[in-house]
Amino acid sequence: MHEVRIDPTLSTAGRYAEMARSLESLLEGESDALANLSNAAALLAQSLDRVNWCGFYLLRGGELVLGPFQGKPACVRIPLGQGVCGTAAARRETLVVPDVNRFPGHIACDAASRSEIVVPILENGVLRGVLDVDAPEPARFDDEDRAGLERYVEVLVPRIDWRRA
Ligand code: SME
Repeated sequence: MHEVRIDPTLSTAGRYAEMARSLESLLEGESDALANLSNAAALLAQSLDRVNWCGFYLLRGGELVLGPFQGKPACVRIPLGQGVCGTAAARRETLVVPDVNRFPGHIACDAASRSEIVVPILENGVLRGVLDVDAPEPARFDDEDRAGLERYVEVLVPRIDWRRA
């Protein structure tokens, strides 16, 4: 059993540091893509407050396909360049969207989502997918969330056998 205990009195940066450490220990000795992405999504859902969806889209055959996640059932395929996920993937840069209704082409999977952050997953310069986190309130994510989630993806990338993802 792996108990997740993120101290709620910590600062945002402190909480993300604990999450990165928890992820390291959760994935230790395992490289199976499905198992590790599933646990990484579950750890995020347990650790982040004010979030209604978190998970992964994986690059398959030139488009993003839904991977392990926590939240309501979501759209399965997102072409590169479309929606927040496809745009972050195509640009290979993190997108922080304070109001999804103002993002042209935003793809609504959960009507409750009001703000969103998408971090591209790059392994040695090769695009593997994205991490997507949605919140039911506007402007939920700031630069500390960007730094924390980019770090989370950095911890994840070398611990997954992407050729079998
Ligand atoms: N809103 C995303 C689609 C994925 S869901 O939020 C889970 C987008 O615009 O790409």
